[in-house]
Amino acid sequence: MTSPFLQKARKYEETYEKNIKKEDRPEFHLSPRVGWMNDPNGFSFYNGQYHLFYQYYPYDSRWGLMHWGHAVSSDLLHWTYLPASLAPDEAYDKDGCFSGSATVLPDGRHLLMYTGVAKEIQKDGSIREVQRQCIAAGDGINYEKYEKNPVLTEVDLPEGSSRYDFRDPKIWQGKDGDYYAVIGSRPADGSGQILLFKSPDGFEWRFQEILCSNRGRYGKMWECPDFFELDGKQLLLVSPQDMLPQGFEYHNGNGTVCIIGSYDEENKKFVEERNQAIDYGIDFYAPQTLLTADGRRIMIGWLQNWDACLPVTVRAPWFGQMSLPRELSVKDGRLFQKPVRELETLRKNEVRYMDLTFTDILQLSGVSGRTIDMELSIRPVDDNPVYQKFAVRFAQDATHRTAVSFRPHESLLKIDRKFSGSRRAFIHQRRSLVRHCGGRIRLRLILDRFSAELFVNDGEQVLSVSIQTPLKADGISFFCDGLVNMDIVKYDLA
Ligand code: FRU
Repeated sequence: MTSPFLQKARKYEETYEKNIKKEDRPEFHLSPRVGWMNDPNGFSFYNGQYHLFYQYYPYDSRWGLMHWGHAVSSDLLHWTYLPASLAPDEAYDKDGCFSGSATVLPDGRHLLMYTGVAKEIQKDGSIREVQRQCIAAGDGINYEKYEKNPVLTEVDLPEGSSRYDFRDPKIWQGKDGDYYAVIGSRPADGSGQILLFKSPDGFEWRFQEILCSNRGRYGKMWECPDFFELDGKQLLLVSPQDMLPQGFEYHNGNGTVCIIGSYDEENKKFVEERNQAIDYGIDFYAPQTLLTADGRRIMIGWLQNWDACLPVTVRAPWFGQMSLPRELSVKDGRLFQKPVRELETLRKNEVRYMDLTFTDILQLSGVSGRTIDMELSIRPVDDNPVYQKFAVRFAQDATHRTAVSFRPHESLLKIDRKFSGSRRAFIHQRRSLVRHCGGRIRLRLILDRFSAELFVNDGEQVLSVSIQTPLKADGISFFCDGLVNMDIVKYDLA
């Protein structure tokens, strides 16, 4: 049965999506059908299609009462909207259906696990949002909330854990056939911890163990965990709130952390080995992964960050978009990310320049556009000193540009959207330490109208930003202080 709340949302999105022209949206990144989008939810493969749900407030392009929006795709790039799948229509989720995930049940139903939020008057008279885990099962379009919801509440938490910060279940089926979920929680020390829960059938859940404790190391509360094996390692992804900067690795505010380690399943112990940021740009948060039938671990994140998304310059009928789906691997103890290989099928109009030597400013015929895939190999010129600075500027016209610049003597790569058209004083630049060999570096830049994702050294690092630059600003130019030699291969993506 579709509740009146959900019916209203479905009617609204169907009516108002018509106001958004296709060319005013990203071409191959998912944006909300109408209104507001944040975290990816329920990223899964079900009945022959990829399903991607998202945190959704259809009625305005700002965060509000959370619903789940829904879209499907066969290639992870072309998405078809389906009707909104969850609305806050029960007492236990009346103040929001927060983030969660999906898996498939043995009887063929699609199982969603999400956080139900309900404001309640506390003993001291204050009103606070209590967070509990809920289940809904369905056929890929309509989902029925489980009559015994919520399935995990404060009584299931280890001692001292907060009932107000208990959210974002990531569910999967283990090799033993049982279901598992990692969920973000706040222990008594006020920072974060990731809890592991287990279920024989996806409905009845039991606490297993504290999988990982933040102990104040990386921000405070850890949101949106994911936990999986990859290339012989065990990875824990978390999105911490309230981070303090650590060198060039982590920045202030909301960030993303990938902890690489090993998992001793017998003793249920996750042993941490290394950690790193997942994305080194400005806008990336709350990623979630799935495993494809051909064994690829694909990650998709919200191409925004809470600290940089509220003061928008232009109020459009939609706000928020997903990142490119990225194929993950672990090499030499580091997380590598590559745009999903399906992106290559969108490549058109190849433009290639090899062995170009230049200094100062360079513009190249055929190199422009706002939906492009461009690979650059950059190197110093033999017998010349290593150049001081190399830059590529894009989304450019007389007044606008966003730039990526690289200073080999400091090993610093900077992304700068100060001139992207923003009229607000929020973060516009971020710098990252990168690996290079005496000024040799490889960059792959993907533009999709309102975003730029830069893959450094074949995916060793990624820097993502969203931009609001008018689409007519489609110029690209190169700059070098010194002498540089480069190869360029550029495609339009359509
Ligand atoms: C992360 C987050 C989640 C929560 C959701 C609410 O961006 O804060 O922890 O479930 O957004 O929309």
